Amino acid sequence: MPQKKMFLGLSTTDGYGSNNEAWRRPDVDPSSYTNLDVTVRRAQAAERGGFAFLFTPDFPAVRSNVARSTLQNTMDPMLTLTVIARETERIGLVATGSTTFQEPFNLARQFKALDVISHGRAGWNAVTTSDPYVAASYGQPVADRGDRYRRAHETVQVVQALWGSWEKDACVKHQESGQFIDVDHLRPIDLQGQYVASRGPLAIPPSEQGQPVVFSAGGPSPDMLALAGRCSSAFITEVWTIPEARARRPRCVRPHGRPSGTPTRSSSSSAS
Ligand SMILES: Cc1cc2nc3c(=O)[nH]c(=O)nc-3n(C[C@H](O)[C@H](O)[C@H](O)COP(=O)(O)O)c2cc1C
Repeated sequence: MPQKKMFLGLSTTDGYGSNNEAWRRPDVDPSSYTNLDVTVRRAQAAERGGFAFLFTPDFPAVRSNVARSTLQNTMDPMLTLTVIARETERIGLVATGSTTFQEPFNLARQFKALDVISHGRAGWNAVTTSDPYVAASYGQPVADRGDRYRRAHETVQVVQALWGSWEKDACVKHQESGQFIDVDHLRPIDLQGQYVASRGPLAIPPSEQGQPVVFSAGGPSPDMLALAGRCSSAFITEVWTIPEARARRPRCVRPHGRPSGTPTRSSSSSAS
């Protein structure tokens, strides 16, 4: 019988905790939001305490009643986790990145860079962004759910193809011969979808874990469960009972009746 193992992740937001009033406690440093020393100390405590990963949700907008409440975000998840990466050794670093408001090349580049910098500890929580305040930050209304998820399926595939665009031994760095990269081991991806595209390759070699781990956070829409089932190695959701959790299991299915959202090789772009 396989041995089951539980992995614990810790959600890291603005440095005060999830209680909106926590920042007012006399033993809390009210500058925690912008003071990365506080965030680093907490990350180090989580690492010592055996947490497998830190998770930074991201809602880039001022959403709450900030006259009294804190912002419930990090200033920037990638920058925060890059700082934490330099001050920790083992803990996984999972940041949120929107498939709706970011291009696959930016996502692939930032997460791969974090993965290389952290020696293979990065994860990407791929969300489609359904929050109207966040959409407004980008000057848009919340897109139709079908469009968001079709774009998400394409985006994850393009991002993963970009991450795979360097073979393991592509980066030669041979000072004597002068060969820096073995270009035969570098692959343009040349993918064209309905929503996103990239020729690639990425300009970053593989990390020690190969590629970042893909996460999804959300539910219960069937589209979210299908995205998580097809694309993600880990799923974060909010449930209060075991039956609820079972019902929320990601499903390895196509979003109902919709095209699979598989980008195809572009014939128009050159692979040189
Ligand atoms: C535990 C949890 C964490 C989430 N974290 C984020 C996040 O960091 N950023 C974000 O834009 N949405 C986040 N969401 C929202 C989901 O990605 C999703 O948009 C939401 O569940 C609505 O589903 P729908 O988009 O299928 O309508 C989170 C949801 C849950 C339950």
